[in-house]
Amino acid sequence: MTVKKTIRRREFLGLSLGATGAVLLSQCSRGSSPSSAPGSPITQSPVYSSEDGLLSFDFVAEAQQVKLGDRNANLLTYNGQVPGPRLEAKPGDTVQIRFTNRLSQPTNLHYHGLHIPPTGTGDNVFLEIPPGESHTYEFQIPSDHPAGTFWYHPHYHGLVAEQLFGGLAGLFVVRGELDEIPEIQAAQEEFLVLKDFALDRSGNIPDPGHMAQMTGRIGDLLTVNGQFNPSLEIPQGGLLRLRLLNASTSRFFALSLEDHPFYLIATDGGAIAAPVEMNELVLAPGERVEVLVQGNREPGQYRLVNQPFNPAQGMMGRGRMGGGMMGGSQHQNTAETIATLTYNGTTEPLPLPNQLIAVESLPEPQTTRQFTLNHGMGGGMVFLINGQAFDHNRIDTQVRLNTVEDWEIVNTGTMAHPFHVHTNKFQVISHNGQPSPYAAWKDVISVSPGESVRLRMAFRDYVGKTVYHCHVLDHEDRGMMGILDIQPA
Ligand code: C2O
Ligand code: CU
Ligand code: CU
Repeated sequence: MTVKKTIRRREFLGLSLGATGAVLLSQCSRGSSPSSAPGSPITQSPVYSSEDGLLSFDFVAEAQQVKLGDRNANLLTYNGQVPGPRLEAKPGDTVQIRFTNRLSQPTNLHYHGLHIPPTGTGDNVFLEIPPGESHTYEFQIPSDHPAGTFWYHPHYHGLVAEQLFGGLAGLFVVRGELDEIPEIQAAQEEFLVLKDFALDRSGNIPDPGHMAQMTGRIGDLLTVNGQFNPSLEIPQGGLLRLRLLNASTSRFFALSLEDHPFYLIATDGGAIAAPVEMNELVLAPGERVEVLVQGNREPGQYRLVNQPFNPAQGMMGRGRMGGGMMGGSQHQNTAETIATLTYNGTTEPLPLPNQLIAVESLPEPQTTRQFTLNHGMGGGMVFLINGQAFDHNRIDTQVRLNTVEDWEIVNTGTMAHPFHVHTNKFQVISHNGQPSPYAAWKDVISVSPGESVRLRMAFRDYVGKTVYHCHVLDHEDRGMMGILDIQPA
């Protein structure tokens, strides 16, 4: 039996943004925001799992009409799905993806967060698969690969934002040690793919207005697994394991769950050493977290709310909203319920794990480099790393295999930039000189205007060319990417 709980009203502050603050994209779909009454039970994408050490399947990227909540939407799909099918494999498995491009543009696939070769038939973002053509991706997941929540999406430079905003993205889960911890096994697992969309009246994606050049394209339809405000159910006393991905092109999420803290157990690159209690989760585009939620309150309904967030202030602006500079979107400035947690029935209270998996501490770096993020004008807005826009023919950074480096990422611009590195994960050593409170493996870290972040990275196992870039994908497409060449030891 469900007892209705009085949902407390919160005070939400609006932002006073300058005249430059609006992104035109969302205007076409205004007046159709989903209601905040809890919707249908959460659904999960079809799962493609490895068997006997092999994950092998055919994969087609294609424009199709799909349902987004109760709306018809003309989107870009993988095997007809938005979000795409969830891929699941284990350390040591071989992955074979026979990929066909039925889009009207070139594309390719990137395996975000996986530690696999960046070359050949692996995680090769320099590949171009023209419309109508196929390519077979084949790689092995190393036998010591950590368990974690990874994902895949297109990475053809210049079209990444458009194709991701069209719907192309899905989860790539590696199962392993973390999944075997008894308290975690006892939890109910739900994947939450967070993604914003914009639709006009005919269900098409409107062209981004030119203001989207600054903030990146942002839609006003907030979806979880392609649904509006789905409901999540656990028994009272139950434990919920939420595995979240921000698969948006440019939108940040800042989440809180009414009356419930989150217990962080994993970040981008896998488990942390012990759960960390948090009241808010800020997810930049591309970031993932895993959290546990204890169903230890009164039976009822609890809203998972996306709080206002201003990317022009980023993390530094949290708690002092109202002094907006430029580039914020009105649609990041209102709180919105994106999912609802309900207790049904009861169970013996399930405990949290005390310990998870130790995080290796990296040796002192041999080299320290600086990367400055900023933007400028040049045929519209261009986004730059160390004053340069991306060039396919230029190697920006050369490192050696089996070395450790510190990268100091400095944002001298006016927008938050989530900095992302392919192939090898990193640890954040300090944020504005403040040491990180706990060790965690990351592959995306948001750097707010005026901030600097120090990363530590070991280059392991693979040589060749790979990339680092801003994960606001409009910024990446407009130049904020560099080529990293990992040379043999
Ligand atoms: Cu998810 Cu190169 O990015
Ligand atoms: Cu990536
Ligand atoms: Cu950026």
